[in-house]
Amino acid sequence: MKQHYFQLLEAFEAYLRNQEASTDDKLQWVCDTLCERLPNYDWAGFYFHQKDKDELFLKVFCGEPTEHTHIPFGKGICGQVALSNETFLVPDVSLQDNYISCGITVKSEIVVPIFVNGKNIGQIDIDSHVKNAFDQDDVLLLEKLAVEVGRLF
Ligand code: SME
Repeated sequence: MKQHYFQLLEAFEAYLRNQEASTDDKLQWVCDTLCERLPNYDWAGFYFHQKDKDELFLKVFCGEPTEHTHIPFGKGICGQVALSNETFLVPDVSLQDNYISCGITVKSEIVVPIFVNGKNIGQIDIDSHVKNAFDQDDVLLLEKLAVEVGRLF
């Protein structure tokens, strides 16, 4: 993993484990930090599974507001990850059939599930304004971050 990704991960671990901020504040800080520190990260948000409903809701984000605050399981990249329980890296969103557009500026996306006791409870969603913005280092960074976020619940 790139050196500055390690540093970022350490910062996330330290903050998420030690600060006395609320969970929502911590999640917001994670979004803001991703968008500030990583140039290709133009939008970052946390979707969580709605209780007793096969739907995701957007809890916190940084970047442009989106109208897609509620997404049914199975719809779009996010909805597919809610069912597959697997990271979904999309190098070019224009090649995806089952995709929900948040604007023509978005060119690539990555969605990483968050687990608590083995159960998929939500996801980290990152959009970029450039194609092929994400690689295996981003998968690693975000999957490790997802583990830390899962510890909050
Ligand atoms: N593109 C996502 C929708 C959420 S936005 O990226 C914020 C999808 O296809 O599920």
